[in-house]
Formats: sequence, structure tokens, C-alpha cells
Amino acid sequence: MAYYVDEHIKNIQRVFPEQGRYNFLRYDMNENPEGLPVWFVEEVKESITPEYLAIYPEPDRFLAKYADYVGVPRDCVTCTNGTDQAIRYLLQTFCGQGHDVVTVTPSFEMYWVNCNILGLNHVPVAYNDDLSFNMQNLIDAITPNTDVVVLLNPNNPVGDAFSREDVVAAVEAARANDAVVIIDEAYHYFCPNTFIDLTQTYDNVIVMRTFSKLFSLAACRLGVIISNPQIIHYVNNTRLTFDVNALALLFGEKIIDHPELVDDLVAAEREGRAWTIETLQKRGWEARPSEGNFIFVRTHRPAGEVAADLEARGILVKSWGSGMLKDYLRVSTGSKAAMEKLVDALATVDAA
Ligand SMILES: Cc1ncc(COP(=O)(O)O)c(C=O)c1O
Repeated sequence: MAYYVDEHIKNIQRVFPEQGRYNFLRYDMNENPEGLPVWFVEEVKESITPEYLAIYPEPDRFLAKYADYVGVPRDCVTCTNGTDQAIRYLLQTFCGQGHDVVTVTPSFEMYWVNCNILGLNHVPVAYNDDLSFNMQNLIDAITPNTDVVVLLNPNNPVGDAFSREDVVAAVEAARANDAVVIIDEAYHYFCPNTFIDLTQTYDNVIVMRTFSKLFSLAACRLGVIISNPQIIHYVNNTRLTFDVNALALLFGEKIIDHPELVDDLVAAEREGRAWTIETLQKRGWEARPSEGNFIFVRTHRPAGEVAADLEARGILVKSWGSGMLKDYLRVSTGSKAAMEKLVDALATVDAA
């Protein structure tokens, strides 16, 4: 039977994240290895009544609170089922078939996966061999065929952050070519600089934030898009009616009700990251810091073998078979207590 299949979707080979991770110590996907305090989860659970579960989700209360939290008007924000969905909505809304999406590479894979799904032309702009990046190369890649430019600040996986000067130059080059700029701030809080203010001064800037990283709510699937009212209006036209579930909205609202908890999470991760880098360096590894909740460790043995040995000991880390980062493990960072377990295991499987 010759049923119709979308020509772009037909030949894609999707690779979905590994399953069965619950019983491991997880340092592979830039989650919080430990999660939120039990008291917080218990407090939120008290609001989950049968009636709450019976009602379709209502994002407005969360969105009003969130807009206030980041200091923009209410009509400048909308929420999504993780920023995974925000990436789909934004590319679907702001890029025409066969037009260009300019990103850095290496970068978060869902940008090019969604380009393939939607039939968009991905234009990757490479980092230098020493993992530095020339913004001028990205600016040179922006042409009249460009509809969307993507900047991750800080970038995943490389972990560097962009200067304001570079970001403004990219925004202006995009604007001169009628393109929007998505600034993915998934790793904000681990790195304090933000470009949310540019959403209020340029008409082509869109910032995305996730609740999966510092806020430690990856299971809930909650992302936010911040821009000007016109762009938010177009994204809302794209949205599924009930894309963000009511539990995610509740957890999201409660965490911004507890700014002291957010401060504690920032401080614990920062201490854990600094401790890990210092300890690994003292013990003979090359440990490369990043502006996100992850670091790179250059292993003495091949990185893939070390990752496999750690997995056999119940510990997950990220490695690459090839490319610029093939000699490194990427290790998510959390509190010092969480990182001690990782360092101890690494010392066992990758002694100098
Ligand atoms: C840069 C970046 N953007 C977006 C995401 C997606 O996050 P989520 O869909 O959980 O909001 C990730 C996840 O790792 C990421 O690294």
C-alpha cells in the first residue's frame, strides 16, 4: 500500500536517549544528579488534588508569575513542553521550506534534527580546532536566504558563553537579512549573563529558558519562550492547545515562589563544579571548565572505554566516538557530595 509519508520525515534515522537510567548515578545529560529537596516535592504534592487533575491545564497563572520573575510584560512570554518543543515551534513558525537555519557546530542536536524533519536547510558554522569560536564566521554565513540564527548561551556541548558585543553583532546582521535570532539559555544560572533584555530592544530576538537544568524538573517538561508580543503571538498560533501539563505548571510556579531554593541550587552546583575541576586537575587529569553545569575531562585511556567502565559501575557520563570532543568525557556537575562519587569512580577506572 502506498500511503503518504512526509518526504522529510520518511528517511530520518532518529536516535532517542538511552532508557533505564533510574538506577544509575547520572552525569550524562546535564540534569541535576540529585534533584530537588524532598520537602519541596512534598509541598507541591499537597496541591495535586483529584479536582486539579480533572481540569485541563491553565498556563496563565504560571506565565504571569514567570513574566514578573524575569522582568518582562506578560504578553512577552509563552510556555512549551520543554524547550525541545520550543525549538520545533520556533523553526516551524519562523523558517520557510528550504530556507537557512544558521547554528554553530558542535551544538545541541535537536536544531539540526528539527531542520531535517521540517525540510529546512541547516547551515552549521564550525568552532576552531582549539574549541574557540569566531563570531565573524557566523555573521558571514547569514544571507538573505537565512530565516533563523541560533545561538546557545552557553553552548552545549562546548560550554563557552558569548560576549554581548558578539551577540549584538549577530542580531544586527540577522536583522539586516530579515532573520530572527533564537538565544537558547538552557544553561542560564550556571552562567549569569543573559540576553533577555535584547528581546525588548530588538524586534527579532527570542530567548528560550528551560526548567530541566538548574530547576531540576526535566521530568516535568517545561520550557519558556521570551520575546516581543508579536513573536509570542505567532508562536501561540503554532501551539497545541494543551501542550504543557498541569503538573509541570504547578512545579514551575512553586519553584519561582522559592527564590531562596534557586539560590541554594546555584551555590551548590557552583561549589561542586569548582571542587571537581580543582580535584581532577590536582590528581593529574586535564579538566576543562565550562559555563554550564558540565565539565570536560580528558581521560588517560580512550574516553569511550572509560565511559563503558564507569557504566559497568553504575555511573553514566557522555562520550563521543569522533569529532572535536572525542578525547573527552562530558560530566554533568552538581553538589560536591554528588561529584565526590564521580571522582572516586573515575580514579578507579582511569588512574594516571
Ligand atoms: C542547549 C539545550 N537546549 C535545549 C535543551 C532541551 O531541554 P528541555 O527540552 O529539557 O527543555 C537542552 C537539553 O539538554 C540543551 O542542552
